[in-house]
Amino acid sequence: MTPRTILYTGKGGVGKTSVATATALACANSGLRTVVMSTDPAHSLSDSLGEQLGSKPREVVPNLFAQEVQANEEMERHWSSVQSWLTELLSDRGLERITAEELTVPPGFDELFALLQIKEHHDSGDYDVVIVDCAPTGETLRLLSFPDVAKWWIDKVFPWEKRLISAARPVAKAFLDIPLPDKAVYDEIERLVGNLVSMNDILRDHTHTSVRLVMTPDRMVINEAMRTFTYLNLYGYLTDAVVVNRLFPEELDGGYFEGWRATQQEHLTAVRESFEPVPVLTAPYFDEEVIGPAMLAKLGTEVFDESSEPSAVLFDTLIQDISIDGDEATLLLSLPFVEKGDIGLNKIGLEVVVRVGDQKRTIMLPSSLAGFKPQGAKVENGRLRVDFKRAEKTAEAVA
Ligand SMILES: Nc1ncnc2c1ncn2[C@@H]1O[C@H](COP(=O)(O)OP(=O)(O)OP(=O)(O)O)[C@@H](O)[C@H]1O
Ligand SMILES: [Mg+2]
Repeated sequence: MTPRTILYTGKGGVGKTSVATATALACANSGLRTVVMSTDPAHSLSDSLGEQLGSKPREVVPNLFAQEVQANEEMERHWSSVQSWLTELLSDRGLERITAEELTVPPGFDELFALLQIKEHHDSGDYDVVIVDCAPTGETLRLLSFPDVAKWWIDKVFPWEKRLISAARPVAKAFLDIPLPDKAVYDEIERLVGNLVSMNDILRDHTHTSVRLVMTPDRMVINEAMRTFTYLNLYGYLTDAVVVNRLFPEELDGGYFEGWRATQQEHLTAVRESFEPVPVLTAPYFDEEVIGPAMLAKLGTEVFDESSEPSAVLFDTLIQDISIDGDEATLLLSLPFVEKGDIGLNKIGLEVVVRVGDQKRTIMLPSSLAGFKPQGAKVENGRLRVDFKRAEKTAEAVA
């Protein structure tokens, strides 16, 4: 059976590890065999559970397995032939061996190898639920988008390159003073790309895999989460819930934090407006740190209830769709409330604010749309459609 896979991400320090671990514990307590793993090289899963963990999954409470994936071990398993070949190549070019070795691992690859553990858990059939505590936003996203590139590479470039090199090998050896990659290097790259392609299938399987965005009710954190949401939609990854963590409780009204609480409530409303219909789950700011199973269980009870089972796919559609075709781009938004009405449109930088009747929606555009201007918006087949045109072209057309 395909395991349910949930990836938690969000800005640094918002509570990703805590919410991920609390979800895993709640799943385990409901009888599901669950593994929670962190791929962030700066692990804090051990701290969260209050137990020292290793790179292999270990059962910490009944049904709950936890692991801190070690990037260097994964690298050794997946990349060592390529690494020695590149090291040789670069040190032949006069680089110090140690520098050369550093350069053989592209940035972000360590987490990428760590993420391959997801595939191993899928292949093993050992778990009903796989929960992943990812590195902060940007990093993970870049990596998540990688399988597409890898797939393109293996389909288009790799077969040719491989054939060319093997045909030209004797000649190249005689004329070039570079060490040519041998079969082990190719095999390793081929295996890696194959793994990435299967990862792609796992991550985009909307019936089993979803991302949850964790945030605190702070303006900058929310903006970042909205950007992430746009990118996730763009790459075809399903976000099935967002979690607003560390909300000041009502008891604080009348005291020093009253103003803060009011601001947080405004931000919470903004979150609902920006992510609806994706469910918005919440957790209060506790009066102590969330460490160890008892506090994690408490956090789990706050985040989830009968209408939001921790392991369920809480929402199952991609609500944003952006397509870019030359100088034109279209944004489609499926909103539950969208009706025909007055539509207002405003773009400041990459932020687009759309008003339909008395509803307001803010969307963070991907940076590839920086030079585009909105042309108009309409409701079409129950979806809001916004058309964009590249700015220079618009100016030309006017001139
Ligand atoms: N709702 C909460 N109430 C009180 N303390 C919390 C809450 N959520 C998280 N914490 C505490 O805040 C700290 C940071 O949380 P956590 O490690 O889960 O964040 P993170 O997003 O994983 O951070 P990083 O980006 O460093 O990985 C921890 O000490 C945790 O115990
Ligand atoms: Mg963390």
